[in-house]
Amino acid sequence: MILGLLKEYGEETRVALLPENVKLLTELKVRVLVEEGAGDLAFVKNQAFIEAGAEVTSRKKIFDEAEVLLQIQPPQKEDINLIRKNQIWISAFNPLWETRLVNEFLKKGLTSFSLDSIPRITRAQAMDILSSMATVSGYKAVLEAALMLPTFFPMFMTAAGTIRPANVLILGAGVAGLQAIATAKRLGAQVEAFDVRTAAGEEVKSLGAKFIQVEGASEDKDAGGYAIEQTDDFKKKQQQAINDHAAKSNVVICTAQIPGRKAPLLLPKEAVESMKPGSLIIDLAASTGGNCELTKNNETRNHNGVTIIGQSNYPAQMPLDASRMFGKNVINFLKLIIGEEGELKLNFEDDIVKGTCITHQKEIFNERVKSVIEKK
Ligand code: NAI
Repeated sequence: MILGLLKEYGEETRVALLPENVKLLTELKVRVLVEEGAGDLAFVKNQAFIEAGAEVTSRKKIFDEAEVLLQIQPPQKEDINLIRKNQIWISAFNPLWETRLVNEFLKKGLTSFSLDSIPRITRAQAMDILSSMATVSGYKAVLEAALMLPTFFPMFMTAAGTIRPANVLILGAGVAGLQAIATAKRLGAQVEAFDVRTAAGEEVKSLGAKFIQVEGASEDKDAGGYAIEQTDDFKKKQQQAINDHAAKSNVVICTAQIPGRKAPLLLPKEAVESMKPGSLIIDLAASTGGNCELTKNNETRNHNGVTIIGQSNYPAQMPLDASRMFGKNVINFLKLIIGEEGELKLNFEDDIVKGTCITHQKEIFNERVKSVIEKK
């Protein structure tokens, strides 16, 4: 198999494989082509890829020769025109949300895999880029909040008086939310968290934070560990509770998402207006609409003295370890499609390969993506 590692574009600083991953691929008899400068922004030089056994070359040669094209971000328009029918595109393109892109892949009969669609089963845990990247986001969001807040995070008892600890509210206690709780606790803040999944309650408490329970949440054991849309009655009760807690918080970190849907609205304008000037909202759900009504993706705004940061790619602010985690996840996935002689072997009997495959031969393979596209 010939694998082409492409250079990312825009604000992206990560790279989908590090030299240590390339070395492993060459041991598996895979030929690796790396686009010149692919690792530059993650502090990885071309030479390091060469020493690991890759050939560093032009983007054109990669599109001409590689059987598998790999990058982190979705393809750009011009890439889609270059991908050939017998090539495989692998990246993370959020197919439940970016359905237009899925339709383009379909129309052109391309084979595409989206790494954010790897089924959340135990065997796939080591391939789960969503968990890895959410870990980085939860951690970075809290660090950014601590740097920007006009007050301390921990309590201080000094000769100049006692400083109260910051109150941090986390909306959504999944992977990013739990990492945000752990980081905020380490910095000495008082932390509370909301979630609609009851299982999240124990995890929040085990990290030493307070779980704010609102009775009557809807759950679905077949939703793969994810949350589902809530009833209007629950939303009303939850809104009141969130408004009360947000008003007392110095920092709100929003992480709540529902796969394939707009992010739930949890912090309406009135809730922001009840917050103290100088407080801060970091919205990690910004790319799917945000949990805060005033969020704008990739923008920082100020509303009545409250700063609202819409940030959906914190991993790009920590490119080396984020690439290390991403690369390890990718390698574990690639092993499923590499045969004994290093050849490409697509085994659609494997539920991880099938679930991660979005389009192949003009069909949608991933069942959840299929049902979202059929409903649109
Ligand atoms: P996510 O990014 O889709 O959502 C983040 C959090 O927001 C979730 O905890 C969700 O319950 C919560 N949320 C959604 N709507 C909400 C609302 N209206 N109000 C409050 N909270 C709301 O989820 P994430 O973090 O990717 O994973 C969620 C769960 O998936 C994990 O906690 C775990 O149980 C499971 N999981 C399983 C894995 C595996 O088996 N391989 C790997 C990773 C996660």
